[in-house]
Amino acid sequence: MNDEVKKGLLGIVVDETEVSKVMPEINSLTYRGYAAQDLCAACRFEEVAYLILNKDLPNSIQLKKFEKEERENRELTKNLYEIINHMPKKSHPMDVARTAVSVMGLEDKETSNSSHEANMRKALRIFAKTPTAIAAFYRIRKGKKIIKPKKTLSFSENFFYMCFGKVPEKEIVKAFDVSLILYAEHSFNVSTFTARTITSSLSDIHGAITGAIASLKGPLHGGANEEVMHMMKKIKKPENALKWINEALDKKHVVMGFGHRVYKSGDSRVPTMREYFKKVAKIKKDKIFEKIYDIVEKVMIKRKNIYPNVDYPTGPTYHLMGFDTDFFTPIFVISRITGWSAHIMEQHAANKLIRPLAKYKGSTHRKVLQLNQR
Ligand SMILES: CC(C)(COP(=O)(O)OP(=O)(O)OC[C@H]1O[C@@H](n2cnc3c(N)ncnc32)[C@H](O)[C@@H]1OP(=O)(O)O)[C@@H](O)C(=O)NCCC(=O)NCCS
Repeated sequence: MNDEVKKGLLGIVVDETEVSKVMPEINSLTYRGYAAQDLCAACRFEEVAYLILNKDLPNSIQLKKFEKEERENRELTKNLYEIINHMPKKSHPMDVARTAVSVMGLEDKETSNSSHEANMRKALRIFAKTPTAIAAFYRIRKGKKIIKPKKTLSFSENFFYMCFGKVPEKEIVKAFDVSLILYAEHSFNVSTFTARTITSSLSDIHGAITGAIASLKGPLHGGANEEVMHMMKKIKKPENALKWINEALDKKHVVMGFGHRVYKSGDSRVPTMREYFKKVAKIKKDKIFEKIYDIVEKVMIKRKNIYPNVDYPTGPTYHLMGFDTDFFTPIFVISRITGWSAHIMEQHAANKLIRPLAKYKGSTHRKVLQLNQR
């Protein structure tokens, strides 16, 4: 047996996928063969969600049907609203999202049916309901009345509406849509691998997505977009940025929003998101974070040759849109549900239990003493 340890599964290819392809050598990312930036330019988020789940872009009839189903499934049960209402107000919204999806699994009549058809129906229900659960908590913890979803609004418009009671300018909605498209899927990242690992024991989709949310919460994964904002708020003014970043690097701190396991010379999603960050900053007439962004980025590249990942521009963009910082990763969740679901179905279709080995390094052959002798 080869007992060479590959910590973090670094460089290990564990399975095949048709969902997306990350190509660091040419700085590209494709979903089902389409370049993510082309999808951002030509599509609304719902079209990309359909693509990821159904393997092809929808025609207008297919899109209409998909949107109708999504809109009709947005509402939560009275039970789930009550559970969210009783959650501690100080809960992290990622924990609320995780618990909400878990409760959806308790309530779903098809939980134990993991056929492809049932998984498609359940994926759509989780996709439609999770934004409602997150927005409900957004309102509740501020002591505001919950705003129920509105069927006449698109996925992104409806999320703004449920959080803020109104839909912002078209350009802001587009920037949000673009962020969701860029967050939707990214091959075998930690949370997707978690979802696939859970699925590999033939567990259900609600459990796999619940586990994926827990995994996404960590600051080395989805939680980075929140950490970026904490950093930018600490820096406060562009005049402080140079000193702050140089000191952070002198102290060998990890700078959030930079670096990537796969992309080593730039994240292919960053240029598109950077462009929309700029548009949002212009509409909001607030360029402070853009200036901080540029200074920190320049120093990171110059001193460390480490480039930003997509969480670097999404953090300040969501801030300018008006979202509380701890809701940034839950926004990532509402998008990534599409990618996770596609991977869960792919895993089911050609399943092999995921069960790696470990090299044991503990003590050996210890004699068990009776309790009164220890
Ligand atoms: C994403 C991340 C976990 C990738 O990790 P990885 O592939 O295991 O790479 P490593 O952590 O081993 O990094 C390699 C080197 O670059 C340095 N490095 C990587 N990212 C860094 C960062 N954001 N800030 C400062 N140094 C960084 C490491 O300290 C390490 O240096 P060393 O060789 O001197 O020890 C890592 O870059 C990171 O922690 N980034 C910040 C969190 C983040 O933004 N996550 C979102 C990812 S989309």
